[in-house]
This record gives sequence, structure tokens and C-alpha cells, in this order.
Amino acid sequence: MTGYTAPMEALGGRRARQRPLGRARGRVLELGVGTGLSLPSYPPNVDLTGIDIAPRMLARARRRADSLGLTAALEVADIEALPYPDGSFDTVTAACVFCSVDDPVRGLREAARVVRPAGQVLLYEHVRPHNPVLGKLTDLVSPLTHRLFGPELNRPTERNVEAAGLHIAEVRRRGIWREIVATSRAQRRGPVARVKPPQGRCDDGPDRRWRLP
Ligand SMILES: C[S@@+](CC[C@H](N)C(=O)[O-])C[C@H]1O[C@@H](n2cnc3c(N)ncnc32)[C@H](O)[C@@H]1O
Repeated sequence: MTGYTAPMEALGGRRARQRPLGRARGRVLELGVGTGLSLPSYPPNVDLTGIDIAPRMLARARRRADSLGLTAALEVADIEALPYPDGSFDTVTAACVFCSVDDPVRGLREAARVVRPAGQVLLYEHVRPHNPVLGKLTDLVSPLTHRLFGPELNRPTERNVEAAGLHIAEVRRRGIWREIVATSRAQRRGPVARVKPPQGRCDDGPDRRWRLP
């Protein structure tokens, strides 16, 4: 388990991660697979590729996959420049990753590019806290956490998903956690649903589930 997420995972995050990732279908690309913490979350019949920029993390993911008896292609690659043709995956996933990627919108654009037009992007991510004091605190400490460990604690990931040209079809908000189902814009049907606009830098809202058409 990634050190900084360990306490958050213990407080119910493990089950929450399984909710979005368990919806993966067909040919699946996991971005920033890390040590493979998400591997047990997938349905048994997916054809899984996991990428990470850190070979040491991938080595641990390989050991985890072996111990779980899972087959997965685990490759070194950069989320911001994915080495796959357009529309090559039915599902693209990421868990606790877009807090770390240097240019998250660029990375999410790559996710949008490699997912096929009728496919889905499934994300489990933490975002800047809604609470103004905690929000400010994460603004102050994020430059340090980014330098020391990689993740920033104040990313507006919902907004980044939309900025990357994806459509948020469904989002579950619980505290700082977001379970996001995004599709390509071409898939969006019917009237444009209004999502409560984020306040300031924060993309957090009350804890509830939004289902958008
Ligand atoms: C906080 S860890 C999360 C790992 C794993 N998804 C999990 O839930 O435990 C973030 C991961 O993203 C990877 N990462 C960060 N930037 C990346 C990039 N540009 N391309 C590929 N992987 C990246 C890091 O190496 C790290 O393994």
C-alpha cells in the first residue's frame, strides 16, 4: 500500500476503490499501477495492462500479480505520453494517481485518447478538502508533499477530467474521495446536466452521489 494513503484506505477506501474499478470491462489499461494495490479489484475476465513510470513499483506489482495468480502486462510508460494508439482500450483506470502526475490534464487527455469512443475511464482519486481550513492547509503543504513523496493533496481532479475533454457520467463524493465514471464527450446524450460549480480551487461538494445523463 502506498504509505500516505494507508490510513485513508483503512478507513473504508479499499471497498470504495473496488466500486469503480470493478466496473472495468474488456481490454483494460491501469495508469500508475504502482505496487498493484488495485489488482484484486478487477473482474476476473479482463485483459489487463498496467503501466507506471517507476520500474521499482512495477517489480512489486509483478510480485503481487504472481501471488494473486493474475495475468497482467506490466510495462514502464509515462501517463503523459502513452505508447498506445488511439482507442486501444475498452476501459482506462487510475487510483490515487492524478494527485501525482506532473501535468494531470495532459495525462487525462492521454486517457481520453487511448480509450475507445464507447469506452469508460474509471477513477478513484482524492481531491482538495471542501473544509476551508483543511483546504488552505493542503494548499500550504502540497508543494512539500509533491517534492518529498509525489502526491499533491489539493488537486481539483473533477475539473481536470472535464478540462481534458472527458464527460463525467457519474461521480460518488465521500469526503476527499471521488469515484468517477467518465466517458468521451461523443458518448454524452441528452441535455447537458448541470454539475454544481466548484468553489474557488475546491472541487469538493457535499457527500452524495450525482448521476448525470
Ligand atoms: C500514489 S501512487 C498510487 C499507486 C497505485 N495506483 C495505488 O493505488 O497504490 C502514484 C503512482 O503513479 C505513478 N506515476 C506518477 N506519475 C506518473 C507518470 N507520469 N506516468 C506513469 N506513472 C506515474 C507513480 O510512480 C506511482 O506509482
